[in-house]
Amino acid sequence: MTLSRRDVLKVGVFAGAALVLPLERSVRAATVTPPRLAASKLPPPFTVPFHVPPVLSPYRTDETTDYYKIYMKPFLADILPGLKTPMFGYNQSYPGPTIHATQGRRVVMRQVNALPEVHPTLKYTPWTSVHLHGSPSDPQYDGYASDVTNPGQYKDYHYPNTPTGRTLWYHDHGVSHTAENVQMGLAAQYHLYDPLERSLPIPHGEFDVPLIVSDAMFQPSGELLIDNHDHSGMYGDVILVNGRPWPAMKVKRRKYRFRLLNASVSRSYNFFLDTGDKFTVIGTDGGLMPHPAPVTTLRQGMAERYEIVIDFRKYPVGRRIVLGNKSPKNNINYPNIDKVMAFDVIGDAFNPKDNAIPDVLNPGNPVMGLTVADAVQTRRFDFVRAHGQWTINGKTWDDVVASNFSYVAASPKQGDVELWEVRNLSGGWFHPVHIHLVDFKIVDRNGRPPFAYEAGPKDVVYTGENETVRLLMRFEGRGKYMMHCHNLVHEDHDMMTQFEVVSDSGTDDPLSDPCSSLPEQDL
Ligand code: C2O
Ligand code: CU
Ligand code: CU
Repeated sequence: MTLSRRDVLKVGVFAGAALVLPLERSVRAATVTPPRLAASKLPPPFTVPFHVPPVLSPYRTDETTDYYKIYMKPFLADILPGLKTPMFGYNQSYPGPTIHATQGRRVVMRQVNALPEVHPTLKYTPWTSVHLHGSPSDPQYDGYASDVTNPGQYKDYHYPNTPTGRTLWYHDHGVSHTAENVQMGLAAQYHLYDPLERSLPIPHGEFDVPLIVSDAMFQPSGELLIDNHDHSGMYGDVILVNGRPWPAMKVKRRKYRFRLLNASVSRSYNFFLDTGDKFTVIGTDGGLMPHPAPVTTLRQGMAERYEIVIDFRKYPVGRRIVLGNKSPKNNINYPNIDKVMAFDVIGDAFNPKDNAIPDVLNPGNPVMGLTVADAVQTRRFDFVRAHGQWTINGKTWDDVVASNFSYVAASPKQGDVELWEVRNLSGGWFHPVHIHLVDFKIVDRNGRPPFAYEAGPKDVVYTGENETVRLLMRFEGRGKYMMHCHNLVHEDHDMMTQFEVVSDSGTDDPLSDPCSSLPEQDL
C-alpha cells in the first residue's frame, strides 16, 4: 500500500500502528486524467426509471435499541445502461440503504470496512470514518476524521436519536479521502421520526420520498472519472437522483413530500420546476420549519437537506414536469446539468389522507426562538484559500493533527448560546459550511434576512462568494467536534477545524473508542 507522508501524519499515532509507513509520495500525483465517456453514450434525460433506495431492517432489536450491520464493500453498480461502474457501497448499494429511526430509540450501527487495501486505480487506502450528519452523537461516534477504520476492521457507532425528527444522512468522513470515498458511493439517508411529524397531515409513507441528488463523470469503460481539479472540486456531467441518471418518476395527482439531499462532492444546485410553479419548503436540515415557505427556486449546497412538497393535483394525466437546475455560480457545468429529473403524472387512484400543508408546522423548536441577545460570545470564522490550501482562520486539519488534536478554534461552554459569523470574502468559490453537533438559526446574510426557505433549523449554511452569514446556536453535549466546508475536496485539502464544548462534567475524547479487527472469514 502506498501512503503519502501527509496521509500518514493525518491518521496520526492512533491508527498508524496498523499501517506500513513508507514515506514516499503518493503515486496519485503521477496519474493523468483518463478520457471521459462521450456525451453521446450517456442516456438521454428522463429515459431511466426512478428508483428509491432500500430501507434496511435492524438485525436485532431490544427494549431501547435497534441494531444494524453494514458492510462497506466494492460492487458493480448499474448506473448507465449497458455499462458497469465499480463503486464502494454501504451494503453494496448506491445510495446506501435508508435507515428509519424513531426519536427516543437508540441505534447501534456496526460499520464493517470490507473495502480493498488499496483503491484499484487511485491507489489510496480507503480507510473510513462514518458520520451521521444531523445527529448530536458523542464525539467518539461522530465520524471524527482521524478516527479511521482500515480495511479489515469495523466500528460500532452509537446514535442517541434524541433530536427532533429530520432527514439525516450518513456518509464517509475518513481523513484526506472523504471526497473520493463519497464519490465512490459511501452516502445514504437516515430518517428520524418524532410524534409531531407523525401527527401532521403532511405526506407520509409512499408519498414521503428521498431524493438524493449527486453528480458523476464516467470513463468509456463505465468506471467513474475522479478528478479534483487541482483541489477545487469534483464535477460530473451526469446528474444522478438516488443513483439513477436524470430519472423519470410516475406521480399521482396529489401532494408529494421529497427529502431533497445534495450529496454531491462539490456541486451546488438551484432547483426549479419547468412549469414556473411554486413548490413549498416544509423542512430544513434540522427538521420541520416553524412555517412552510413557498418558493419558485431553491439554492442548495452540498449536505444541505430540504423537505419540499410538490402538488401535482393541477396537472393533467400525461403531463411531464421537469425539476431543473439553474446552476449557481462557481460550478463547472456541462450540457444537461440544467436538468435533474422528471415527474410524469398518472391517473391512478390514491389515498387522500395526509395531503395538506398546515400553516403551522413546528413553531416550538428552541433553536428558532434564539435571539442575538441570548449570545454570550461572538466569534468569527474566515474561510480562505491561502497558498493553495483551504483554511479556516488560517488553520487546517493538518494543524489540528500536528497539535496532537489539542488545537481548538473555539471552546464554547456547555449550555451557552453563541453567535458565529462565517465569512467568505473572496470571489471564485462558495463554501457550504457545516458545524457538527448543533442545529443553528441563520440570523442574516450580508446584513439581510436569510432566504425564506432557510428560516428553519440548519446545520449547513451556503456561504456564497462575498457572503457573510451570522448563526446562532446553543452548545449541548461535550468534547471536540469538527467544523468544515462541505465541498469535500476543500475539506480534504484542508478546510476543516474543530471546537470543543467545555463541560463541568469532563469531556469525551473522539479518539477514545477505536475500531476493532474482524477475522478474515467474517469479511
Ligand atoms: Cu456531512 Cu462533517 O459532514
Ligand atoms: Cu455533520
Ligand atoms: Cu469550500
